[in-house]
Amino acid sequence: MEQLVIAGGYPLKGEVEVSGAKNAALPILCASLLTSGTMVFDNVPGLRDVGTLLRLLRSLGATVERDASRVTLSASALGEPVASYELVKTMRASILVLGPLLTRFGHARVSLPGGCAIGERPVDLHIKGLQAMGAHIEIEHGYIVAEASRLKGARIFMDTVTVTGTENLMMAAVLAEGVTVLENAAREPEVFDLGECLIRMGARIKGHGTDVVTIEGVPSLRGAEYAVMPDRIETGTFLVAAAATGGDVRLLGVRPDTLDAVLDKLTEANALVACTGDQIRIRMRGPNHGVSLRTAPYPAFPTDMQAQFMAMNAVAQGTTVVTETIFENRFMHVQELRRLGANIEVEGNAAIIRGVDKLEGATVMATDLRASASLVIAGLIAHGETVVDRIYHLDRGYEKIEQKLSRLGAQIARRSVEEA
Ligand code: UD1
Repeated sequence: MEQLVIAGGYPLKGEVEVSGAKNAALPILCASLLTSGTMVFDNVPGLRDVGTLLRLLRSLGATVERDASRVTLSASALGEPVASYELVKTMRASILVLGPLLTRFGHARVSLPGGCAIGERPVDLHIKGLQAMGAHIEIEHGYIVAEASRLKGARIFMDTVTVTGTENLMMAAVLAEGVTVLENAAREPEVFDLGECLIRMGARIKGHGTDVVTIEGVPSLRGAEYAVMPDRIETGTFLVAAAATGGDVRLLGVRPDTLDAVLDKLTEANALVACTGDQIRIRMRGPNHGVSLRTAPYPAFPTDMQAQFMAMNAVAQGTTVVTETIFENRFMHVQELRRLGANIEVEGNAAIIRGVDKLEGATVMATDLRASASLVIAGLIAHGETVVDRIYHLDRGYEKIEQKLSRLGAQIARRSVEEA
């Protein structure tokens, strides 16, 4: 097991390049299953989750070549469309192979993702949507077993906004017979990015990125080239780290237009944020005021940024409240932040954070991806040494995080537990 060792108290300064978006890369790589043509993807981040998905695609019979951030994929000759429990259990987003496999091959067996540290996270809306398109679906021995000779377009209303649910149904609908309308669809930029990639492959889609997506099925799709959008959550994480340490950082290769809610909250916390083209520069105007926030589907404040802001709020002036409305169990970083001296109380889905003068280094344990990012930020603020344990969570979603932070002047190093 590996750990990050952080000597806190150094403001981040300098420039850093943001990687491709994990949550766009995962569905977009799955879209290769929809064609026998060759797909060439650029700006694919080097992340554990991407590695897991590529292993899953290989296990299905796809050929995969990877050269730095370029991935070439061909799903011309696939084997049995079965996604095993062993691969699906480590990454919930593996469910994204269900729609493409079913619509292209007429049948698929995909393991249920099972429990997850940040809440129950069911896939009922993925299943209901496919059923509305005529699929016959049974749950057998923990597997979703789906069949449909050809899916049929349908009007599908989703009573909860689901990102991967919208993506799965979009991918199923592109090869279905007739028109599918997804209502109350997720508007996340990653859904839009997937839509753009599918259009490049010959799909007919309108309204992606809005809450009504209309897809007219076509008989087949072709191979294409596509560059994955920049990661808005990685961007946001570095922005918060810069603000929380009182630094001055310029992020390169970003999409400021996908970060309105986050930039707004940083400004409210007393940061000076300047966007020019694909760059964002951030520095503080004065003391950290902290900021209350409430997570909700895009374009509102992202649940994937909540934990990082909580670390910043821990040392802000006054009291702030962070309300989580998407996942019921996403406050596991709270007890770790408390180990560093934060004053946080949880009441239902709200965390009340009373700012303290300083955090003090300690050993903390990462529990999930974004919680890990919050602990790294807290470690950068804290006095003395912080050890973040179980950083494999962090490697799921942040490319070379300690190298990027080191370049900004952070005192941070990775070590394996044997050396510890
Ligand atoms: C995606 C993101 C994740 C982010 C989340 C919310 C990817 C790979 N992951 O996860 O980083 O935190 O969106 O922005 O893109 N739900 C149901 N039934 C379903 C599906 C979802 O009730 O069939 C509920 C979930 O329990 C949750 C809410 O809908 O309360 C939103 O979840 P969803 O948008 O599906 O999250 P993911 O797509 O898994």
